[in-house]
Amino acid sequence: MAEQGALAVLPFHAVFSSPRRSMPSVDFAESAHLRIRPTMLSDLDYVVSVEQDDRNLPFITPWERTQHEGAVRFPDSRHFIVEAGAAWDRAGFVILQGCRNPSRSVELKRLVLQVHGQGIGRRCVRMLKQMAFRDLQAHRFWLDVKSRNTRALHLYASEGFVEEGLLRESVRVGGDESFGYETMVVMSMLDREYQARLDTGCETPPPATVL
Ligand SMILES: CC(C)(COP(=O)(O)OP(=O)(O)OC[C@H]1O[C@@H](n2cnc3c(N)ncnc32)[C@H](O)[C@@H]1OP(=O)(O)O)[C@@H](O)C(=O)NCCC(=O)NCCS
Repeated sequence: MAEQGALAVLPFHAVFSSPRRSMPSVDFAESAHLRIRPTMLSDLDYVVSVEQDDRNLPFITPWERTQHEGAVRFPDSRHFIVEAGAAWDRAGFVILQGCRNPSRSVELKRLVLQVHGQGIGRRCVRMLKQMAFRDLQAHRFWLDVKSRNTRALHLYASEGFVEEGLLRESVRVGGDESFGYETMVVMSMLDREYQARLDTGCETPPPATVL
C-alpha cells in the first residue's frame, strides 16, 4: 500500500468544500501559521523521537514504530504531522482513529507536541474538532487522558469536552520491579454540542502563534 496522499498546498476550504458522508477522506487542514498534513513514512523517526521525549513520555503510552506505520497505512486511522511557524517546522503529531466507525465515533487517539505552552495544542484541538465533525461527519469525538495530565485535562475541558467517567487504574506503568497503574479520564463531545459551540462563536480560530 502506498503512503498517505502527497502533501498538496491548498487552502483549507478548497479541500473541504463538500462534506463526504461515506468514505471520508481528510488530506490537509490549515489556519494561520498552523497546519496538519498526512504523516509520511519518512516522518516516523521524528514521530518516535517526539513520543520518546522525556517531557511527553509520562503522559502517553508510546507505540513501536510499526504501530505508527500501521496507523499511517490503515484506512480507519489518520496520522498527521503538525507544522507551525513561519518556516512550517514540524511541531508534533496527531492520530485519529475510528474514522470509518459505523457509529461515527471518532477518537482523538494521540496529540503530542514538541513545543508546549504556546497555544499550539488549543489550535490543534480546534482544528481537529472541525475535522472530526465537519469532514469526518462524526457523531461523537472522544479521547482518554491520564488523570494526572492536568494540562491536557484543562485544555480539553476548556475546549468543550465533557468528562464521561474514569477508567480506574487501567494502564500499567513502570518496570517489573516497581510498577503501578494509572487512571484514565474519558472525555467526549457530541455533534450537537459542537454545533452549539459554533452557534455561540466558541469555535473561532484562536490567535496564531508565530514560532
Ligand atoms: C497536552 C498538549 C497537547 C497541550 O498543548 P500545548 O500547546 O502545550 O497547550 P496550550 O498552550 O494550547 O494550552 C494549554 C492550556 O493548559 C494550561 N496549562 C498549562 N499547564 C497546566 C497545568 N499544569 N495544569 C493545568 N493547566 C495547565 C495553559 O494555561 C493553557 O490554558 P489557557 O489557554 O486557559 O491558559 C501538549 O502540552 C503536549 O503535547 N503534552 C505532552 C503529551 C500529552 O500530554 N498529550 C495529550 C495526551 S491526551
